[in-house]
Amino acid sequence: MNAENKATRIAQIATSLDPICIGRPRPHVDDVKVIGGVADLRQPIPIKYQAVRERFKNAQNNMWFPSEIGMADDKLQWNTGALTEAEMWMFKLNISYLTASDNLVPDNLVDTIFPHITAVELRQYYRWQCAEEANHLESYLYILESFGLDEGGQGQIFNIYQEIPELANKLNWNLKFSNNLAHSEAPIGSREASKLLLEDLIAYAVFEFLFFPCNFTQIFALANGQKLRQTAQQYQYIWRDETLHADNGIWVINQIIYENPYLWDDEMRERALAIIVEGVRMEAAYAKASMPDGGVFGLSLKSYLKYNQMMADQLCLKLGLPVLYDVKENPLPWMNNYALNQEVNFFEGRVREYRTGSQLLWD
Ligand SMILES: [Fe+2]
Ligand SMILES: [Fe+2]
Repeated sequence: MNAENKATRIAQIATSLDPICIGRPRPHVDDVKVIGGVADLRQPIPIKYQAVRERFKNAQNNMWFPSEIGMADDKLQWNTGALTEAEMWMFKLNISYLTASDNLVPDNLVDTIFPHITAVELRQYYRWQCAEEANHLESYLYILESFGLDEGGQGQIFNIYQEIPELANKLNWNLKFSNNLAHSEAPIGSREASKLLLEDLIAYAVFEFLFFPCNFTQIFALANGQKLRQTAQQYQYIWRDETLHADNGIWVINQIIYENPYLWDDEMRERALAIIVEGVRMEAAYAKASMPDGGVFGLSLKSYLKYNQMMADQLCLKLGLPVLYDVKENPLPWMNNYALNQEVNFFEGRVREYRTGSQLLWD
């Protein structure tokens, strides 16, 4: 954050940069809040939010490494014309967008959200999430390296996010919320700053709860057709992480509202719905750009757009908002097969179960 633009804090709200004072009382659980708390942030206790602590431990148990998944089959397919032109185009836009977006998420956490957060267990979870986002970037790089593409070939694919307007627009849409918050003059803890924070959190809940699963359907659809199944394994592990990120993001929004009900007024609820509608529109534009022929084998543009709306409805419900599209049936029920905490893996080869308790179901 630019020092000049950095918002000041309302006095007494905790920051881990506060000088240490001899004789300061031990932090008390009543002083811990998601935002606006006054407890000392340098001690791992008291833990107020057990749900966040559990999520942190789940995330630790989910640790995985991209290089543990062999990529030889996908390399062969990529280089021997196993994919159609339409499938290759879809894949390229997909991995370019996801790579750029997996940069945006941790940067948003560090540059905009983190200074507002005054619960140590939540700061710990965010730190871990940043490491996972770095691991996702590593996965995308590893996938393209595995295809045997030289730097020029990889660069052409990674760069697509700033060549296709629908991808740039979608990324800029999230960046707008980050910048609104990062460059606000409103002091941290003020009504205005907290509302901007909520807007940013909602826009990034759209990102991780809606954009990511929608994008993953494209690669899982290829895997359904026996194509790029090792890439799909990589995406499965990423999806499991993203599921926890989305759960956490939605929990944070709801907890802030619970602790600060005055923020969740009619205007803010309207704003939240408008953000979700905009997100659905961004995703639909991406879908049309990445599947200009109306889809690929096993994934029609129409069902993708319906899935997009279904995820928006689920997000509305999770935030206590009325549904927007009232989608009655999951148009892509096979997506559930790709949730990773299943007893039996459907891929042959070595998909390792790193799991313990993370919840991957969508309801
Ligand atoms: Fe990620
Ligand atoms: Fe994430």
